[in-house]
Amino acid sequence: MQAVQPWFADIGETTGGYDGIPFEAAPLDLAAIFGNDRPVDLEIGCGKGQFAAEYAAQNPQRNLLAVEINGNVIVQAAEKAKAASLGNLRFLRIGAQHIGVLLKKDSIQRIFLNFSCPFPKKRQQKRRLTHPDFLELYRGFLAQDGLLMQKTDNAQLFEFSLCALSGCGFVLREVSLDLHHSAVEGNIMTEYEQRFTALGQPIYYLKAQKHGRD
Ligand SMILES: C[S@@+](CC[C@H](N)C(=O)[O-])C[C@H]1O[C@@H](n2cnc3c(N)ncnc32)[C@H](O)[C@@H]1O
Repeated sequence: MQAVQPWFADIGETTGGYDGIPFEAAPLDLAAIFGNDRPVDLEIGCGKGQFAAEYAAQNPQRNLLAVEINGNVIVQAAEKAKAASLGNLRFLRIGAQHIGVLLKKDSIQRIFLNFSCPFPKKRQQKRRLTHPDFLELYRGFLAQDGLLMQKTDNAQLFEFSLCALSGCGFVLREVSLDLHHSAVEGNIMTEYEQRFTALGQPIYYLKAQKHGRD
């Protein structure tokens, strides 16, 4: 892991603390991690980091923290960032369910959920990254008026997300049932998006904004 430092940290490898997170890691000092006070965005489930690397390259005035539960793929992602010398991109291996304790209130401006696992069975619904439990967790660290973007090929997950976001104090700003034939500009393709697009599948897309509750 030394080879991909400082691009990569593995919270899951440490012992002690709670939920596998060492006490000394929480909360993260994002300004120290990135070496500046620029806005920080978060990608959850970044896979091999194709989107993360391109987003960081296109947005040098922003920082991106990318998290992923699978240690094998996230190391490949960190290697990409290192090869491109992307100083505004950092990776953390951790399950999304634990990030709440790591991120301070209002510390994240944008959240990206790209082709999250759909968990189609009813008993798995709580693992969907747009389940109301996750949305409440995101509200804790997402800035007021912060944004959440989701892309998926899965209609069932998309419908679930639309309902969950509407019920959890988010306002839907953009919705497309076919992103690649929509007016939405500046899309950055992910690895899974390329695969689904090659199969001729439409990509569902939404942009939601956090709102204070009345
Ligand atoms: C279908 S892949 C999509 C990868 C990438 N975002 C893309 O679009 O090419 C979903 C990724 O989410 C990760 N993942 C699933 N549940 C997660 C969780 N609770 N926390 C962090 N990552 C998770 C998986 O390990 C997997 O790499």
